Amino acid sequence: MPQRFTILIPDVLDNADIEEEVFGDEYRILTPKALEADEIPAETWAETDAVLAFHELSFTSEVLEGMPRCKVVVRNGVGYDNVDLKAAGELGILVCNIPDYGTDSVADHTMGCLLALARRLTMYTESIREGEWKFAIDTPPHRLGGTVLGIVGMGRIGTATALRAKAFGLDVRFYDPYVPDGTDKALQVTRCDTLHELLAEADYVSMHCLLCNETREMANAEFFGAMKDGAIFINTARGGVLDVEALTDALRSEKLLAAAIDVWPNEPPKEGPLVKAWKNREPWIANRLLVTPHAAFFCVESIEEMRIKGAKEVMRVLSGTPPRNCVNPQFITHVRAGDHLLPHLHRIRPL
Ligand code: NAI
Repeated sequence: MPQRFTILIPDVLDNADIEEEVFGDEYRILTPKALEADEIPAETWAETDAVLAFHELSFTSEVLEGMPRCKVVVRNGVGYDNVDLKAAGELGILVCNIPDYGTDSVADHTMGCLLALARRLTMYTESIREGEWKFAIDTPPHRLGGTVLGIVGMGRIGTATALRAKAFGLDVRFYDPYVPDGTDKALQVTRCDTLHELLAEADYVSMHCLLCNETREMANAEFFGAMKDGAIFINTARGGVLDVEALTDALRSEKLLAAAIDVWPNEPPKEGPLVKAWKNREPWIANRLLVTPHAAFFCVESIEEMRIKGAKEVMRVLSGTPPRNCVNPQFITHVRAGDHLLPHLHRIRPL
């Protein structure tokens, strides 16, 4: 069968077995596994109908202009800051992402952190290692049922976390000024009108908002000051929402009982006072901080799902069907894949 479309997977993969199965014989898939755009010959870029991009390469206007046949760049992942959305839009190239491949894993990871800290697993393990065998520790666990989980950001992951927490009997409340009324009713959870109200009520606070100017360092000294004494803080959103110094102070002063941090402003985290103290097992922090390496999304199934969904999004666009997750509709005035997609794209709210 003649191959009608050339799909370029420029980075990360050298084996496109999953994509081959989705695309079938009509598509030619190239996997140069480059680290820089100029490692890929100009002729390859020129014959590319669609790109499935990971994070290694930057899709600048120059790179995009080198792909006169390209109709869509799908970012295999959530973030798309390595693609010039405006330049792509002006060329009629749709840029799409895969926003949900990690939704359930991040929610599971959040619950894992919450349960581990609530049930004092780190503390028990450490005390046994030190030769003790007693359940009655200084900071005894509380029954989960009826305690309050405060969710900051009730999007996909916030919602998935809320549903899990409800099954454990937690009283779920959230703060998110951008979700419509009725979200609380549909999920049977409580909406807080202000962040302060949420923080004052929650035994656990879990971050699930986007990182933007408004949420940058949202978890700062004032935020921790407004939390209940002895509460637990969890961040699986983005490192930038956290002021690490403020968290350090909140833990050192025992305002917070414990924290679980999957994402840091710099990754791996800088050797600041908190990380140093934790690595050195200083007694004040030893069992009160859970750290994971931006791993909340990660599992075998989520990576497979991301690749399948990426390939399907490409196929939708190349066959003239509207994409599910276009992130540059605001820059699109014509569409290389067909101007019949314009009304659909203009109905999507830019992020
Ligand atoms: P989403 O877009 O579905 O939800 C984000 C929510 O944050 C939205 O409902 C939005 O209204 C809300 N929000 C925006 N500004 C806010 C503010 N000032 N206060 C409170 N809420 C606000 O995103 P999704 O998929 O649920 O992702 C949530 C977070 O998880 C993102 O930061 C994302 O980057 C992160 N993430 C982390 C992963 C990990 O491995 N740790 C993997 C995937 C996503």
